[in-house]
Amino acid sequence: MKDRNITNWYPTSWQGKTAGQQPLYADQAEVDRVLAQLSKMPPLVTWGEIESLKKQLAEAARGERFLLQGGDCAESFEDCRPDTIANKLKILLQMSVVLIHGMQKRVIRVGRIAGQYAKPRSADIEERDGKALPSYRGDLINRAPFTEKDRKPDPHLLLRGYERAAMTLNYVRAMGEGGFADLHHPEYWQLDFVKDSQLEKNYRHIIETIRESLSFAETVSGRKIQEAGRADFYTSHEGLHLLYEQAQTQYVEEVDRWYNNSTHFPWIGVRTAHPDAAHVEFFRGIANPVGVKIGPDTTADEISQLVDILNPDDEAGRLTLIHRYGYRQVEEKLPILIEAVRRTGKTVLYSCDSMHGNTEIASNGLKTRRFENILSELNIAFAVHKSEGSHLGGVHVELTGENVTECTGGARGLTDDDLERAYKSQVDPRLNYEQALEMAMQIAEK
Ligand code: PEP
Ligand code: CO
Repeated sequence: MKDRNITNWYPTSWQGKTAGQQPLYADQAEVDRVLAQLSKMPPLVTWGEIESLKKQLAEAARGERFLLQGGDCAESFEDCRPDTIANKLKILLQMSVVLIHGMQKRVIRVGRIAGQYAKPRSADIEERDGKALPSYRGDLINRAPFTEKDRKPDPHLLLRGYERAAMTLNYVRAMGEGGFADLHHPEYWQLDFVKDSQLEKNYRHIIETIRESLSFAETVSGRKIQEAGRADFYTSHEGLHLLYEQAQTQYVEEVDRWYNNSTHFPWIGVRTAHPDAAHVEFFRGIANPVGVKIGPDTTADEISQLVDILNPDDEAGRLTLIHRYGYRQVEEKLPILIEAVRRTGKTVLYSCDSMHGNTEIASNGLKTRRFENILSELNIAFAVHKSEGSHLGGVHVELTGENVTECTGGARGLTDDDLERAYKSQVDPRLNYEQALEMAMQIAEK
């Protein structure tokens, strides 16, 4: 492995910089005890897996693969249940099959899963009826109910989060290996409530085509294609809570590198992606592939700095820029991003998060996103990359395998009035199962 040109870094070096979005704990000694425990726990992922993913991301940057990254805005501890996890895997699997079929490319499946428990908030304090309490920051930090006790940051939740992540990942791994993900049996992933969906016919057709091609290839070669019997899933989350991430970062002597073993692929959120601040400092030293969200306020100068700081050696697969401009601004801003990266002379993987720039408040006060706007940002992003001589190598979506009503539009034509029926997200609105599948079909058709 090539040497990395990282100097003056250690897992705590970020502590000398400004760290945004960190909880304020009342009892530092208790936090220290929890972190000491956490740092002795087994790694959730291994450095070998992390490096395999990095290789695949390098292929995506070259246009040979496509990155599908998706999951909840925030996982909750309560949703650490077999059905919820399986449904999330099912929709990611189905989307990936649709994409493979349409794009004729291998797809990298990355969940926002097994650790997506900490959320950045625009306000530190939430007010209700004249009462002010700390904002809910995700199950890793405090609890959602609006009471003083629930909103107090609790360091023990860091341990509960690690355990939930481990349990989730254990189930994800078992399903990825076993018959569940077997392309010979796509019926295993079928979700009951789509039986009457308009998308069903289209999806069935894709599955039948794949099944026939697979069977043809196996007949001709005279052997079973083992690869089709299993599926790789990788994990990702926003690496927001730096003490938590730091506690799971370990040195690997064989390769002389530090890995953050809490997830394969951590990313920096748009609110904490300042080149001089703590998150970038922490991410600079870990050897994982890393993502950075790029928003409408990120300047060209900041982009160049981020690329240089986070990928000084131009290591293939190391850096993914996840742009999230919103459908109104993407056409204007994306060329600036592409040009800023080009000036660094380095290669990145571009992925489009078409969710976070398209959040709005519906007529009934609920946070929502419109399917047509989400799709429109994606379509524009594909076109702009093409005309700028670069290419979009991935998508980043907030979705769930459940039949929720949080985003409007899609084949079923959900309206603002439908939102209240099954709105479950504590934070951002997610595409439901059908909308997610439809999104994959629309991308694949392009
Ligand atoms: C998120 O991915 O849930 C998120 C908060 O995104 P961003 O940092 O892009 O706003
Ligand atoms: Co979100």
